[in-house]
Amino acid sequence: MQSPNQLEISRRDLLISSTATVAVTGVAADGAAAQSAGKIMDHTTKVSFTVNGERRDLDLDNRTTLLDALREHLHLTGTKKGCDHGQCGACTVIIDGRRINACLTLAVMHEGDQITTIEGLGEPGNLHPMQAAFIKHDGFQCGYCTPGQICSSVAVLEEIKANIPSHVTGDLTRQAHVTPAEIRERMSGNICRCGAYSNILDAITEVAGTRA
Ligand code: FES
Repeated sequence: MQSPNQLEISRRDLLISSTATVAVTGVAADGAAAQSAGKIMDHTTKVSFTVNGERRDLDLDNRTTLLDALREHLHLTGTKKGCDHGQCGACTVIIDGRRINACLTLAVMHEGDQITTIEGLGEPGNLHPMQAAFIKHDGFQCGYCTPGQICSSVAVLEEIKANIPSHVTGDLTRQAHVTPAEIRERMSGNICRCGAYSNILDAITEVAGTRA
């Protein structure tokens, strides 16, 4: 039969052994976590698209939004980040002729796409008619939402021309027209905190050639 001393040593050995096991398990778990974290950090994808007529090749974290790719990687800061949640329209760009909130789409989803930002519409000395009309009609105050407003306006006129209906289009069997109601409805995703809505409406209407 074992003496109480022998029992005491056995308990101590058991404790030492258990502690060592926990330590080894902990190191292994840390290693697995680090490996896993490393995998996430390495999870990048090559993507190529055309921005304002120029092919751009990027190696991006899969989680990068198109907005961040444009602003942070390509330094095209004309496209603005307002809400970053698809609610303000400040980040509107045109992709293959359709407007889109760049904050709501991942850059890696646009392989091969043609992207137009405010910088690609026109530049000082050679403005797009919509840019010129916004200036003429004072369609802004602070200007922060203006690039998104202008990109959206350009695409809105193309949508109407293509007879894509909006919520207020009455007769779906006939060609849609540029009316104040149509413009207001279609521009409702672009918020102007300064309240330049009536001037923006004038600018778009003038470009459409159908002043109401
Ligand atoms: Fe994209 Fe507001 S920043 S909708």
